[in-house]
Amino acid sequence: MADWLPVTTGESGARVFRSADGTRYRKVVDTSGVAALADERERIGWADAHGIPGPTVLDWQCTEAGAEMITSAVVGTPADHLCPGDLAAAWPAVVAAVGALHAIPVSACPYRRDLDAMLARARDIVARDAVNRDFLSDEDRSVPGARLLERVERDVARRRAEERADAVVCHGDLCLPNIIVDGAEVAGFVDLGRLGVADPHADLSLLLESTRQSFPDIAEETRAVADERYPRHIDDARLEFYLRLDPLTW
Ligand SMILES: Nc1ncnc2c1ncn2[C@@H]1O[C@H](COP(=O)(O)OP(=O)(O)O)[C@@H](O)[C@H]1O
Ligand SMILES: [Mg+2]
Repeated sequence: MADWLPVTTGESGARVFRSADGTRYRKVVDTSGVAALADERERIGWADAHGIPGPTVLDWQCTEAGAEMITSAVVGTPADHLCPGDLAAAWPAVVAAVGALHAIPVSACPYRRDLDAMLARARDIVARDAVNRDFLSDEDRSVPGARLLERVERDVARRRAEERADAVVCHGDLCLPNIIVDGAEVAGFVDLGRLGVADPHADLSLLLESTRQSFPDIAEETRAVADERYPRHIDDARLEFYLRLDPLTW
């Protein structure tokens, strides 16, 4: 039996472990997380088959208590753990890898993560008063869920039209810990459970905000490089919209 060391940086309710020899990761959920982990398992296989760099599934077990999945390790460093100089060096490759993911034809992707699906989730979470306040910004933390949702709902018609025109295959949780970097290259994307067709700004908002938070001193520089190298126009209002929606969907 391998020794499994806990990894403490995950954002979901899953428990994540790394094998002592560093070659494998193990994600463990209770019964409430089985459907989400099964979604992730399926999407890892799809991503692998479509040339998206990432792990492969080595084992899957479903038990009375929940489920667990073992994946191959993507070898490198989670991008949030880099020093600013190394993140800056890898950043053009990160933007290129996201561009390549977003260039996969949406017709090839059976998974939806569209605005209406995310909104339905947000409405349900707000109605149950179950917003995870840890995911909110400092200024939003004490604002009632209904008020946060209202702010999102105002723009939905416009955002839906934009999504219809521009949808791409999105990672779905494109924050820096889920991007594994090796030198100045992207080794792969992990945590693919929310992969699906959506507005590219759903991904870009998390990527840029996560970078701003982890690397405030080079946030402007990284944004400028993204504007220059990402193949579409990056729209601030759309970024803001998806940044407000995302924390209501967990
Ligand atoms: N197969 C893998 N290869 C490399 N790193 C991984 C792998 N799986 C998980 N990790 C690391 O563990 C962290 C937590 O795993 P993740 O699947 O993102 O859990 P969570 O859903 O809780 O965010 C990731 O951010 C990444 O740093
Ligand atoms: Mg993660």
